Order: sequence, then structure tokens, then C-alpha cells
Amino acid sequence: MRSFSLILKQFSRSVLLIAGFAFGSLSIANAQTDAAKGEAIFKSKCTACHKIESQLIGPALGPQMTEETDDKYLIKWIQNNQALIAAGNPKAVAIVKKFNGAGMTVFADLSDADVSNIITYVRDTWKAEKDKPAGGDAKAGATVESGPSEMVVFGLIAIIIIAFIVILVLNRVVGSLERVLLKNKDLLVEDELAAEAAGAAAIDARKAFITKILKNKKLVFFILVSGTIAMGSWGWESLWNTNVHTGYQPVQPIKYSHELHAGVMKIDCQYCHSGAYKSKNASIPSLNVCMNCHKVVKTESEEIHKIYDALGYDPKTQKYDSTMAKPIQWVRIHNLPDLAYFNHSQHVKVGGIKCQQCHGPVQTMKEVYQYSPLTMKWCIQCHKRTEVNGKGNAYYDSILAAHDKIKKGEKVTAAVLGGIECGKCHY
Ligand code: HEC
Ligand code: HEC
Ligand code: HEC
Ligand code: HEC
Ligand code: HEC
Ligand code: HEC
Repeated sequence: MRSFSLILKQFSRSVLLIAGFAFGSLSIANAQTDAAKGEAIFKSKCTACHKIESQLIGPALGPQMTEETDDKYLIKWIQNNQALIAAGNPKAVAIVKKFNGAGMTVFADLSDADVSNIITYVRDTWKAEKDKPAGGDAKAGATVESGPSEMVVFGLIAIIIIAFIVILVLNRVVGSLERVLLKNKDLLVEDELAAEAAGAAAIDARKAFITKILKNKKLVFFILVSGTIAMGSWGWESLWNTNVHTGYQPVQPIKYSHELHAGVMKIDCQYCHSGAYKSKNASIPSLNVCMNCHKVVKTESEEIHKIYDALGYDPKTQKYDSTMAKPIQWVRIHNLPDLAYFNHSQHVKVGGIKCQQCHGPVQTMKEVYQYSPLTMKWCIQCHKRTEVNGKGNAYYDSILAAHDKIKKGEKVTAAVLGGIECGKCHY
């Protein structure tokens, strides 16, 4: 029995050792990857409208997120600023007023942890920025940039070391257990001993084989583990992103710029995408809409001549020849699969959601790209978090009216419930 306590002692020592190593490396890895993860999200989702040190379309986030110490509020704001504004949260209402309702995107797909990581990254970066000696160059920024990837390497090395230690310890434990088994054999009763003797030769052969494998196993195991981790994370990542086209930005047949028309010239989205307010589809404007201006604006431009050619318009005679007309093939960017039904007017008109909340800062895009993932998760998260404003909303007034009728036992037709609205039956 002494050997058992020996094993136990040895085992607990090894466990302590491993735990210590694991804990140490994990805390290093965690502290670093939080900010690094936050940085990645910040750069992909926020930099279109925010800078850390100065104001862009939205406030400078460094000072803003440092002064605002209520993380719960920040998380709520970033996940769904609309809900806070609708609920009349005084901080939210104040900031919207300050920015004239420029409007921030809803990030329903970000988890609480994601947002916390962004906050950590912004605060850390801003702190580093402020602590930089006056007149210092961009070096501090550079170290912040390279920091995380170095730590990731450290973390990986730590994991590799731990893997080796685990294997070594397991080997020793197996060895000790075998020794104990051999010792205990002497204590076995006679008949059991006899039975065992029969199998002994077989066991010996197998044991030799196993120990051989065990020795090689260090290598095999190690390669297997690293291979599995690499393949697994790659597979996981690509599976999750199948059919997600965030960032899709095809080249369009005419170099039409939203930055110029919707941004600099401030043409309302409704001027060209009026469908978004009254139907399922936002729709792309016909070239006749462009002609309202381009009949006289930039008439010598090659790009504008593409509009003329497509309409069969001759700028010299100012006449249209419909036999020469051919449609412009705009490349569609946003595209839900047919199995999902999405209605713009329900969101824009009834829900009062701004285009930018789903399409991002279109007014700053030279060429439009897909801003949101358009995944089911994205839809659902926003539905879970957005409060509906039923007051003074014609859509809900009609539902409430029907509700009252049903309650009173009056006759209610499908038409009263919206059954003759075109969009309910037609795509
Ligand atoms: C489409 C542009 C846009 C994008 C993208 C955007 N913001 Fe904003 N943000 C704004 C505007 C504009 C405001 C000012 C308030 C308003 O008008 O809604 C703002 C305000 C804020 C505030 C201040 C809230 C307060 O109460 O003081 C925080 C914090 C913030 N944004 C964080 C983020 C983070 C984090 C991201 C990326 C995940 C992000 N924003 C992406 C435009 C944007
Ligand atoms: C002067 C007309 C005009 C105005 C104003 C305009 N757009 Fe567009 N929009 C277009 C045209 C033309 C296209 C197709 C070419 C392209 O994708 O750039 C388009 C494409 C888009 C697309 C991509 C559609 C797709 O293929 O999935 C989105 C999203 C969009 N607009 C949103 C907006 C928003 C939001 C505003 C207001 C901030 C706006 N647009 C203002 C003309 C306009
Ligand atoms: C409200 C007036 C207006 C409408 C509507 C309009 N544009 Fe423009 N567009 C302008 C002005 C103004 C300019 C810039 C002139 C300048 O750069 O001096 C311009 C510039 C352009 C240019 C750049 C031309 C060049 O060579 O620099 C293109 C391309 C263009 N528009 C395409 C379109 C298309 C396509 C539509 C329809 C979807 C459209 N525009 C609708 C006013 C308009
Ligand atoms: C709640 C999110 C949301 C809002 C708000 C929203 N869109 Fe969309 N938009 C989408 C989705 C999702 C699609 C893809 C629809 C599809 O493929 O059936 C889309 C597609 C489009 C298209 C491509 C053509 C079409 O009709 O499908 C245009 C253009 C467009 N949106 C413009 C706008 C404009 C302009 C606004 C603001 C008035 C707006 N959107 C508001 C989610 C939104
Ligand atoms: C920015 C937040 C947001 C996103 C993103 C969003 N929705 Fe919505 N959606 C709303 C709100 C708010 C309403 C309620 C509008 C109202 O008051 O009727 C709504 C209502 C709807 C309704 C009507 C529900 C009913 O019973 O009346 C459908 C259907 C719908 N959304 C589909 C979608 C789909 C599909 C997507 C993703 C492609 C999507 N939504 C993305 C906010 C969002
Ligand atoms: C209760 C469902 C329903 C509603 C509401 C509805 N429709 Fe229809 N609509 C249909 C069906 C089903 C068809 C196809 C059978 C047919 O052609 O009669 C159709 C056909 C059509 C067609 C002919 C399409 C073609 O290619 O032949 C047009 C145009 C049309 N509807 C327009 C409208 C308009 C505009 C509204 C709103 C005022 C509307 N519909 C409301 C169900 C509906």
C-alpha cells in the first residue's frame, strides 16, 4: 500500500505543476486576446464612423468611453442604441441631440463579451495614447499593434510546453501503476495466480508493444493534437462563414458614388430608393431619375455617357431613341435566399429604423459594400433587443382596432388585419 500513497503523492505534485502552468499561461493569453479581439471587431465595424482620438461621424471614442464608466450602458448602447433612444434614456437622447441624429448602426450580432473586448481595447489604446510623452512619435501605437500577436505566440508556446508535460506525467503514472500491479501480484491468492499465469505471456507481449507505441505516442499525440486544433479552427471558421458575404463589394457598371450623391450632396435615400418606405423592396432607381440632373450635369463625362447610351439618349439632339436603349446591369449586393422574407417598409416605416443601421454608413461609401452579415442570427438578435414603439403608429393603430373588434365580438374580415395590402401576398 505504500506504493499507492507514493503514486498519489507523485500524481498530486504533477497535477499542481500542470495547473500552475496552465493557469499562468491562460491568464497571459486572456489578458491579451481580449484587447486583440476587441481591436479586430473595432477595426471591422466601428472605424467607418469613429476614431479613438478624434471625432469623425460619431464622437471620439477614447475620451468618450473613458469618461463613461458605466459599462452596462455602453454595452446596451453599442448592441442596440435604438432601444435606448426609444426608451428615452437621458444619456442616449443627449448624445443623439448632440450629433443631430446622425444615427449609429445597430450591432445586434455582437455579444456582451465582444463589446467588453472593444471597450477594453479602446480604453487601453486611449490610455497608451495619453501616456505617450509629448512630441513622441507613432512608436507607442506601433508597440500596441505588435503586442497582441507576440503574446499569442507566447500563449501557443505555453500550450505546447503544457502538452509535453502532460504526456510526460501520464507516462510516469502509467509506469508507476504497472509497477504496483506487478507488486500486488505477489499478494494474489493461488488460483487467481494460476489463471493469470496463463495470460501472462500474452500480456507480456502486448505490454512490450504498448510501451513501444507509448514512446512514439509522444510524437504522434503531439502531431495529432496540433493538427486537430488547426484543422478544427479552420473548419469551424469556414463553416460558420459559409454563405455570409459581409464586405462583398462588386464593381458596378457605372462609377456611381454614394459618398458624392448621398454624402456630399445630401440627396435623401428616399429620392432614389423610395420603395424602401412603401414596399418590400428598396429597389434601385431607374436611370431616368439620374437624368433629372445629368441631362445638364457633367454632360461630357464618360461615365455619364454610359447613362445616355443605356437610355438611347443623344446629348446633341437631346432626343431619346428607345430602339437603342439597353438596361444597365447593376450588380446586386444584398441578397437574402428566397426562403427568407424581408420587408423594407415594415422596418423603415413601421419600425422607424434608419437605413444605416443595417447598411452601414452608405453616405461615406464610394462603392457600396455589404455591411451586415444578413444571417438569421443577425435578424433574430435585433428582434430580441429592439423595443417596438406602438404610439402614434398607424400599423399598430389598425391592429389595435381589429383587436378591439374581436374583443367586442364584432365581425372582423381578413382585410381588416391587412389582408388586402399588396406586400402581404406579393414579393
Ligand atoms: C454608421 C456610423 C457608426 C458606426 C458604424 C458606429 N457608430 Fe458609434 N456613434 C455614431 C454616431 C453618429 C454617434 C452619436 C450618437 C448618435 O447620433 O446616434 C455614436 C455614438 C457612439 C457612442 C457614444 C454613446 C454615448 O451615449 O455617449 C459609443 C460608445 C459608440 N458610438 C460606440 C461605437 C462602437 C463600439 C462601434 C462599433 C461596434 C460604433 N460605435 C459604430 C455612429 C456610428
Ligand atoms: C441618386 C440616387 C441614389 C441615392 C440618393 C442613394 N442611392 Fe443607393 N443606390 C443607387 C444606385 C444607382 C445603386 C446601385 C449601384 C450601386 O450599388 O452603387 C444603389 C445601391 C444601393 C445599395 C446596394 C443595393 C444592393 O445591390 O444590394 C444600398 C444598400 C443603398 N443603395 C443604400 C442607400 C442609402 C442608405 C442611401 C441614403 C443614405 C442611398 N442609397 C442613396 C442610387 C442612390
Ligand atoms: C440631384 C442631382 C443628381 C442626381 C439625381 C444624380 N446625380 Fe450624379 N452627379 C450630380 C452632381 C452634381 C455630380 C458631380 C459634379 C461634379 O463632380 O462637379 C454628379 C456626379 C456623378 C458621376 C461622376 C461623373 C464624373 O465623371 O465625375 C457619376 C458617374 C454620376 N453622377 C452618376 C449618377 C447616377 C448613375 C445617377 C442615378 C442613379 C445620378 N448620378 C444621379 C448630380 C446628380
Ligand atoms: C432592418 C434592416 C434594414 C434596413 C433598416 C434597411 N435595409 Fe435595405 N436591405 C436589407 C436586407 C436584409 C436586404 C436584402 C433583401 C433581399 O435580398 O431580399 C436589403 C436590400 C436593400 C437594397 C437592394 C435592393 C432591394 O430592394 O432589395 C437596397 C437598394 C436597400 N436595401 C436600400 C435601403 C435603404 C435606402 C434603406 C433606408 C430607407 C434600407 N435599405 C433600410 C436590410 C435593411
Ligand atoms: C435593426 C434591427 C432589425 C434587424 C437587423 C432586422 N429586423 Fe426585422 N424587425 C425589426 C423591428 C423593430 C420590427 C418591428 C417593426 C414593427 O413595429 O412592426 C421588425 C419586424 C419584422 C417582421 C414582421 C414581424 C411581424 O410579425 O410583424 C419580419 C417578418 C422581419 N422583421 C424580418 C426580418 C428579417 C428576415 C431580418 C433579417 C434579414 C430582419 N427582420 C432584421 C428590427 C430588425
Ligand atoms: C390576398 C393576396 C393578394 C393581395 C393582397 C394582392 N394580390 Fe395581386 N395577386 C395575387 C395572386 C394570387 C395573383 C396571381 C393570380 C392572378 O394573376 O390573378 C396576383 C396577381 C397580381 C398581378 C398580375 C401579375 C401577373 O404577372 O399576371 C398584379 C399586377 C397584382 N397582383 C398586383 C397587386 C397589387 C398592386 C396589389 C395591392 C393593391 C395586390 N396585387 C394585392 C394575390 C394578391
